[in-house]
Amino acid sequence: MSERRPIIAANWKMHKTHLEAIQAVQKLSYLLDRKDTERVEVVICPPFTALRSVQTLIDSDRLPYGLGAQNVHVEDEGAFTGEVSGPMLAALDVGYVIVGHSERRQLFGEDDATVNRKVKAVVRHGLVPIVCVGETLEEREAGGTQSKVAEQVRMAFDGVDAAAVSSAVVAYEPIWAIGTGRHAEPTDAGQVIEVIRGTLSERVGKDVGAAVRVQYGGSVKAGNIREFMVHPEIDGALVGGASLDPEELALIVKFR
Ligand code: PGA
Repeated sequence: MSERRPIIAANWKMHKTHLEAIQAVQKLSYLLDRKDTERVEVVICPPFTALRSVQTLIDSDRLPYGLGAQNVHVEDEGAFTGEVSGPMLAALDVGYVIVGHSERRQLFGEDDATVNRKVKAVVRHGLVPIVCVGETLEEREAGGTQSKVAEQVRMAFDGVDAAAVSSAVVAYEPIWAIGTGRHAEPTDAGQVIEVIRGTLSERVGKDVGAAVRVQYGGSVKAGNIREFMVHPEIDGALVGGASLDPEELALIVKFR
């Protein structure tokens, strides 16, 4: 279990121009040293418009960060105005794609079937999906957290082979905790994460369930990251708001 390398992914959502993104990554690179990024994998997920610039900077300065996109289209090419495909991301050296973020599900009508098609589009091109799952406050209060999350996980990985599942990342993000300043209790999150692993183990075997990295997401900041990082089930975090400030992001990665 301790084999799993924690992964901190910065989800910048619809923030930062490409110039601001470059500045932020440069600043981050002054604040982090090799020891930090050996211990924790750092992935930057800027908007599409900044992917190329951030990739060039990572490349030219040999920065030890992964690059992630926040979305992808299910098809590889075609008449889909405004969309971006897996092959386009792969050609930019993008390594990760956030799939099924609750904002995509709630604001852009992505259902579990779409999330599944997106996961397949991502793995088809050798990229790693960061699959987001999580319950609403109503679902939590009705005691439906575990069944909701298990179903989202089952659907997202339906028909995806064991090798692709084992290198995937899942982000457990309770919707009521996203951008609210109210985070889940690490013990609670850990229990849901056990359900996530159990669900994947049933489908593709215990080894795979134990190998998948599962992050927590929802109001993570420098002041609370440590509680999550020390929990044995939690393999890092998907960080929104707090990741926009490179100083805060560096403190999160260092989690002292
Ligand atoms: P937050 O967002 O850290 O701002 O709560 C997390 C996310 O949406 O991934």
